[in-house]
Amino acid sequence: MRILAIETSCDETSAAVVEKREDSVFVSVLSNIVASSMQMHAATGGIIPEQAAREQVRFILPTLTQALESAFPDNKESVQNILQNQIDAIAVTNGPGLIGSLLVGVETAKTLALVFNKPIIPVHHLLAHIYANFIADNNQKEPITFPFIGLIVSGGHTDLLYFSSHDTFSWLGGTRDDAAGEALDKIGRSMELAYPAGPEIDKRAQKVQKTDIRFKSPLLHENTYDFSFSGLKTEVGRYIQKIEDLNETVLNGISYATQKAVVDVLVSKTIKAAEDKQVATILVGGGVSANSSLRQQMSTKAEERGIKVYFPQPKYSTDNAAVIGTYAAYHQQPVPWSSIKAEPELYFD
Ligand code: KG4
Ligand code: ZN
Repeated sequence: MRILAIETSCDETSAAVVEKREDSVFVSVLSNIVASSMQMHAATGGIIPEQAAREQVRFILPTLTQALESAFPDNKESVQNILQNQIDAIAVTNGPGLIGSLLVGVETAKTLALVFNKPIIPVHHLLAHIYANFIADNNQKEPITFPFIGLIVSGGHTDLLYFSSHDTFSWLGGTRDDAAGEALDKIGRSMELAYPAGPEIDKRAQKVQKTDIRFKSPLLHENTYDFSFSGLKTEVGRYIQKIEDLNETVLNGISYATQKAVVDVLVSKTIKAAEDKQVATILVGGGVSANSSLRQQMSTKAEERGIKVYFPQPKYSTDNAAVIGTYAAYHQQPVPWSSIKAEPELYFD
């Protein structure tokens, strides 16, 4: 089964070709092209939805063309023929996300499905982040077994889920206010770091050997699977206001303490969920899953308890179409193209 996948839920325009073979438990990525308008948004310190969608209209066809051509480098046929002859189905993110951005991908996918007479599979963006772990890598991962706990940590969402099969899952908890990535980005903004600040906070934190700066890990000791990060943003903001010289050492220290507050609670609640539900596997996904401290701490704590943790390869942590195709490969349930709608508020109900 070969799938052409499209992802346009936020600022990225991405197209990928993935393949799920009967004899493999993982999905192979044949191509994964990601065009981003992030540089434009970095200049204004946040995403401007209207601008993102306008850029996506420009990017979508070249991105699709490149994804199809680079998936089959020896095939010299036209892209139309490649799509017609090599692709079995089309997958597209239908939510959640920015309405204008989602519409670009959804309407393009629907048109291709109709014109080329291909089945089309709508994909939930957040679930797809977890499925980044089902992409084959060179390290010959062991097959992933159910049940598992899924932690989604992205720019817009923080959610804990319990999966008993590919088709059955339940929502355990999520953020009451800001998402983990959103908190890092907003705190980064008050430190005058470039948007999105998560990767820079990660890099700065790695430089710190020792610091006295401490911030509270929100809801760490509360017996729920909920998260809350807006209080941390306020706490760090107040701390920054009192600092006269926001020099490199201080910025690095604040990065370290902020990251620690976020990572401690993410790790603690995810491990607690695995222990409470007596599962031996955790899958993490979403942009913040690229964070080095989260990877290291989650892996150490889980290993101590005999729990296996999977993190996506970093290039599949952030938004990309390969994960959308991968999710679709395990959920080959096409729907009539005319019934697919962009759903900005799609969640877990
Ligand atoms: O999943 P994603 O690409 O987009 C959404 O669906 O939201 O996540 C983007 C988020 C941003 O908040 C960004 O700051 C964060 O992921 N991020 C990181 C790292 N790389 C990306 N946060 C912490 N450490 C990183 N290395
Ligand atoms: Zn995402």
